[in-house]
Amino acid sequence: MTQRTSQIRKAVFPVAGLGSRFLPATKAQPKEMLPIVDKPLIQYAVEEAVAAGITEMIFITGRNKRAIEDHFDKAYELESELEAHNKQELLDVVRKVIPKNVTCIYIRQSAPLGLGHAVLCARPVVGNEPFAVLLADDFMDADGGKPVLAQMTELYEYEKCSLLAVQDVPRANTRQYGIVSATPYRSDLELVSGIVEKPKPEEAPSTLAVVGRYVLSGAIFDHLENLGVGSGGEIQLTDGIAALMNAERVLAYRYAGQRYDCGSKLGYLQATAAIGLKHPETAAGFREFLDQLKG
Ligand code: G1P
Repeated sequence: MTQRTSQIRKAVFPVAGLGSRFLPATKAQPKEMLPIVDKPLIQYAVEEAVAAGITEMIFITGRNKRAIEDHFDKAYELESELEAHNKQELLDVVRKVIPKNVTCIYIRQSAPLGLGHAVLCARPVVGNEPFAVLLADDFMDADGGKPVLAQMTELYEYEKCSLLAVQDVPRANTRQYGIVSATPYRSDLELVSGIVEKPKPEEAPSTLAVVGRYVLSGAIFDHLENLGVGSGGEIQLTDGIAALMNAERVLAYRYAGQRYDCGSKLGYLQATAAIGLKHPETAAGFREFLDQLKG
């Protein structure tokens, strides 16, 4: 994991969601703990934040999410067991889950009031500074290039404004996303002039969709605090961004990388296949297996 210093020091991980699209796998374990090959989704997201220079990880949790806290905690029994059996490699794997200079903070979201509400729960820890938000079920594969959040925190150093990761989606799918209206700004950046949560295809202002990486100005909290319920009867981050956008510049960033929607079964399988084909322990055997399957 390469680390760099960054003006963005804090990341918020909203992980209180029920993961109902993945039942029964998520009946007794958080969806964020589903592994891609050998690492849970939440660890990939935390590693992406670490690579962007972030040192404070703020998890907005709910019931049934203890496994996430345990994952980032020291595992005394496991470590002494591995030590006793001289399993140094595995010991390193377990110890490297979180770097020593990184702090994890857990805040409980007591009711599922929406993504905007989850982010607002982080206010006492974030204060007024700019911060990142990562949705762990949007798995971002930068394919050996600069991780997506690091692309955004670097951009922040020049632009000093809120940034939303965006990608084009088929018009039929606009109902799954926050959709932005935007005007060209610079090659991979657009100036956001509107944003709406989960519009019907026929009402969507564009097909430019927000995916789960944000760098947000601390001013978002005032806007979130004043919001009523929005789409789906929830307090929406999208509506907070719509209000922020009227007061401050917000840019949409076409990131370099591939996003997999690991909240969906198909996206999860695609991510598993993509990473399985790159992982040093599985790449060769998995390719062979896929070739056999194709017949
Ligand atoms: C959330 C946001 C939405 C965004 C999406 C990206 O929706 O509300 O604006 O486009 O994440 O994955 P969810 O997927 O939680 O329904």
